[in-house]
Amino acid sequence: MSNSPSSSEVDRISDAQGTKRLLIRQPDDWHVHLRDGAMLASTVDYTARQFARAIVMPNLAPPVTTVEQAVAYRERIAAALPSGRKFTPLMTAYLTDGIEPAEVERGFSEKVFTACKLYPAHATTNSAFGVTDVKKIHAVLETMERIGMPLLVHGEVTHRHIDIFDREAVFIEQVLSKVVADFPALKIVFEHITTADAVQFVEASSPNIGATITPHHLMINRNALFEGGIRPHLYCLPVAKREVHRLALRKAATSGNPRFFLGTDSAPHAVSDKESACGCAGIFNAPVALECYATVFDEEGALDKLEAFASENGPNFYGLPLNGGTVALERTAWRVEDQLAAADTAIVPFLAGSTVPWTFLGRETASVT
Ligand code: NCD
Ligand code: ZN
Repeated sequence: MSNSPSSSEVDRISDAQGTKRLLIRQPDDWHVHLRDGAMLASTVDYTARQFARAIVMPNLAPPVTTVEQAVAYRERIAAALPSGRKFTPLMTAYLTDGIEPAEVERGFSEKVFTACKLYPAHATTNSAFGVTDVKKIHAVLETMERIGMPLLVHGEVTHRHIDIFDREAVFIEQVLSKVVADFPALKIVFEHITTADAVQFVEASSPNIGATITPHHLMINRNALFEGGIRPHLYCLPVAKREVHRLALRKAATSGNPRFFLGTDSAPHAVSDKESACGCAGIFNAPVALECYATVFDEEGALDKLEAFASENGPNFYGLPLNGGTVALERTAWRVEDQLAAADTAIVPFLAGSTVPWTFLGRETASVT
């Protein structure tokens, strides 16, 4: 891929009256937690107002493991959207040791499941029913490889003796490289990557391996979790790593490499579940998602690469059409709310109380050709 931006990309970064504006094709979020019930109702539009489509994680309690459950969940998401909002949730199946390949295949052929999600058992929030050993799902992976259905992986081993900051790198070595060797044609998205090791793995692998990168892993390193005291709202899984890893992620995201694309991993939790003796993992970045990505790409001098990362690389990887329409952002600073009301509680969003240099202006009706 050429490093120089196309002329249409350049035209759409304008500097009207000294305020930088950016118009990009409508983006998608290739990894989000929309939750259920009252939490779904009060948070879904933070995602739906910015993104045309989103890959919806299946880690509800109980998890989404059947076609019927995914259809019902998709209907609950549609019902929770404000009227007139155009947003397409792309559903995923939660892989368990016992999931039937036929159920996965039926869901894919009926266009209910877009992909399957592999959570190693106990790796993260609501993963107790996850896969205990990849060998147990070999038949499913074989089916997915045959039908061209993407596998989305939470790439961390869960052994207690492995240091938490090493769990992604060890996962590559012990699990992912074996899956890739055993199923060379399987489409795999290495989700929410956090390390230089993951960047290198993706760069060195064949084109059927991609990765999503979150806003928070581009903006914080592990020091942020302990800055002046413990910061539960910056705790997520995989946990943020050293600065060298953050820099590698920023380089990958802004490189123009089509294998890296946007996935927020926005994961709302009630404030009481975060500010607790055993706080939940998950960062709610949906209210500031595109603003964060624009800030990072701007800081890296790579605004011309944002559209590919946010709106093209994901659909191209999944084999889905690009969205029409555009969204607009402007380099005007705003202050993120301290808390947002949600269900009968509150959620503290990513960057709460701080100033973000970019503002999301909304969707434009004019379509991109
Ligand atoms: C996610 C959640 O809360 O559901 N938490 C997180 O820290 N990212 C689960 C996940 O994606 O690991
Ligand atoms: Zn997630």
